[in-house]
Amino acid sequence: MANDKLVIFDTTLRDGEQSPGFSMNTEEKLVLARQLAALGVDIIEAGFPIASDDDAHAVALISTEIRGPVIAALSRCNPADIQRAGESLAPAERSRIHTFIATSDLHLERKLRITREQCLEALIAAVRQARGYTDDVEFSAEDATRTDMDFMCQVVETAIDMGATTINLPDTVGYSTPEEIAEFFGEVRGRVPNADKAVFSAHCHDDLGLAVANSLAAVSAGVRQIECTINGIGERAGNASLEEIVMATKVRPDRLPYDTGVRTQELFRTSQLLTEITSEAVQANKAIVGRNAFAHEAGIHQDGVIKDRRTYEIMRPEDIGVESTLVLGKHSGRHAVKRRCEQIGYDLSRFELDRVYRTIIDLADRQKHIDDDDVTRIIESTRAELARTETAARPA
Ligand code: KIV
Ligand code: ZN
Repeated sequence: MANDKLVIFDTTLRDGEQSPGFSMNTEEKLVLARQLAALGVDIIEAGFPIASDDDAHAVALISTEIRGPVIAALSRCNPADIQRAGESLAPAERSRIHTFIATSDLHLERKLRITREQCLEALIAAVRQARGYTDDVEFSAEDATRTDMDFMCQVVETAIDMGATTINLPDTVGYSTPEEIAEFFGEVRGRVPNADKAVFSAHCHDDLGLAVANSLAAVSAGVRQIECTINGIGERAGNASLEEIVMATKVRPDRLPYDTGVRTQELFRTSQLLTEITSEAVQANKAIVGRNAFAHEAGIHQDGVIKDRRTYEIMRPEDIGVESTLVLGKHSGRHAVKRRCEQIGYDLSRFELDRVYRTIIDLADRQKHIDDDDVTRIIESTRAELARTETAARPA
């Protein structure tokens, strides 16, 4: 039996882009959108057109050029937002209007200062108006996981009745835990009579570092769309990281039997492109795309990987588009040094290897990173020195 499809909704250009340090100009957004299409995401949320003329322009440009993924645009539940989103998306081959309103009492009373009835009226009008532009309408209940359950069910049933085809219930402030969010989606889907008429979606923030775990727990409760971003960028601590979600399903199909359709070999390139565009590096030990994610420095680990990579690698670096790196440092073993020398084209005698190995370990005490140029220099000078000693020792 085929695995269930898990829809990947990428919001790097919207939720990601709106966080400090990650803003992009229109040309940069277009470049990233091309790469997201090459990566094979299902939906690209290209922006929030009412936010600025630049945002609207970027959404229109991406809608004009990008083919393959659905192009989505965000709008609040009000007529001007929806009109702007609908117009910006007009050139798209396939478009989605993503309209949202907060539903928790905290947000309704303290932020929006409206009643639950007014919230329902706004969402009814918004979904109806959005359907005038496209059949593909997503409704999001901001701060869903802190919303009263009876009201949550009423909101979801109403949005589906009005024609929303995707229901996104965000953990806007990253407050949920995995068990809790699975129960939450299970209860909503169980209680809402027309739940089978929509795809349910999770949008988890990472304030407690649980965004990926929460998203995957939501999938276990019937959610079939995950909203996520490259490198996990997004408001505050960020959103669920796309590469972690995708690779979790690829590496553990026994536990997560879902197909994302993402070309995983493009993951590293996409991550790198985003860091180049924004000049914001990912942490070295970030799962999947961090500099150290496939780097082995400890001698025991390097020895294991050389003998059988599965000893310390649960996924193949090339599946993400990364070359495996045995990092040379003071913890490296002789095997790793020999392998690196071979990789850069030197076949050393045992005697040469002994010398080279000792020089590298010495250097590693003083210098953090040892690159291929260092290794080449060490080999060449070792060989030159050995040749000199041999000549000096030869009888005249
Ligand atoms: O975090 C959130 O609630 C959002 C919505 C606008 C979808 O980003
Ligand atoms: Zn968000």
